[in-house]
Amino acid sequence: MIAIGCDHGGVELKKEIIKYLEEQGYEYKDYGTYTSDSCDYPVYAKKVAHAIIDGECEKGILICGTGIGIGITANKIKGIRAALCHDVFSAQATREHNDANIVTLGARVIGPGLAVKIVDTFLNTEFSNDERHVNRIRQMEED
Ligand code: RB5
Repeated sequence: MIAIGCDHGGVELKKEIIKYLEEQGYEYKDYGTYTSDSCDYPVYAKKVAHAIIDGECEKGILICGTGIGIGITANKIKGIRAALCHDVFSAQATREHNDANIVTLGARVIGPGLAVKIVDTFLNTEFSNDERHVNRIRQMEED
């Protein structure tokens, strides 16, 4: 199950991403927001992050105007590794190296065509499981 959420800045791009998820046959849960009315991105970042931590969803997609605020918020929740990706290389690398569990996108930064390719790469790239990467991810969680 894929968790998806956004603020008002990401509503239109979220529709495009959901279209892609449906075409590809992914199961997903849309945590809002659902309208272009101004809202607070931390609300949706936390909903998606908790869905992953609680084991309800395996991966998440978060969208705001820049992808930054929503990603900073998600990364404050222990166990979340949210990666801002505005290119396909980063989407692949963050799965292979960081085992990122959320991809964040800025709807005011990139267009829907690239965003869908980034999401496709993120969802279809496995973690490398290399010892050095496992070790580094473990260190992330230490104080
Ligand atoms: C909302 O105007 C905007 O601040 C938000 O979507 C995001 O870009 C924050 O990081």
